[in-house]
Amino acid sequence: MNNIRIAPSILSADFARLGDQIRDAEAAGADLIHIDVMDGRFVPNITMGPIVIEAARRSTSLPLDVHLMIVEPERHLEAMAKAGASRIDVHWEVSPNLHRTLQTIRDLGCEVGLALNPHTPASFLSDVIHLLDAILVMTVNPGFGGQAFLPETLPKIQQLRAMIAQSGRSIDLGVDGGIQNETAKVAVAAGANVLIAGSVIFTDKHSVEYGVRNLRDQVAQ
Ligand code: DX5
Ligand code: ZN
Repeated sequence: MNNIRIAPSILSADFARLGDQIRDAEAAGADLIHIDVMDGRFVPNITMGPIVIEAARRSTSLPLDVHLMIVEPERHLEAMAKAGASRIDVHWEVSPNLHRTLQTIRDLGCEVGLALNPHTPASFLSDVIHLLDAILVMTVNPGFGGQAFLPETLPKIQQLRAMIAQSGRSIDLGVDGGIQNETAKVAVAAGANVLIAGSVIFTDKHSVEYGVRNLRDQVAQ
């Protein structure tokens, strides 16, 4: 048994059956449910907001990991927390007053996550690492499910794992985008401990349960 956590991303779920799909993921042993909020500005796509978070909250007791791919995330933190977010991840690239934004998430009673786009260096979070519960490395360009993993993000995952060790804090290191059987293994080998996966779980040809269990089997030691 290792400490790898599986976070199904509902972006690829069947939204006509969202509650059932989340319950299936929980029954299969998922550790948290990942919710992608997109605004059509920071990223090209528009997805969901507090109404869907609130519905997810009623469908599971798992923590809800809310990934904000929106500009001015500070304007929406309270609504996300009220809707039931357990953890809120904001993007470094849209947070000019990052220290304050992270502190606000903490004050709202949520875990504090910081997401980095593929081009954003690990070193850019060094001055706020003491405020974090989670780091989310985008392993695709954010905006859509089903894209191919970018292997050039692997050195950054290694660097961040070393920075976390040096910080002495217990910080989740998540990878988001293009995670499937092979990329899960290389990401974990590089130091990731949270696997965020959408299409490989929710479009698995057998079932959502099989998708979750299969991913965990790939990285079992
Ligand atoms: C992409 C999202 C991801 C997405 C991953 O911008 O942040 O969470 O759901 O989807 P897959 O696993 O299909 O690459
Ligand atoms: Zn995401």
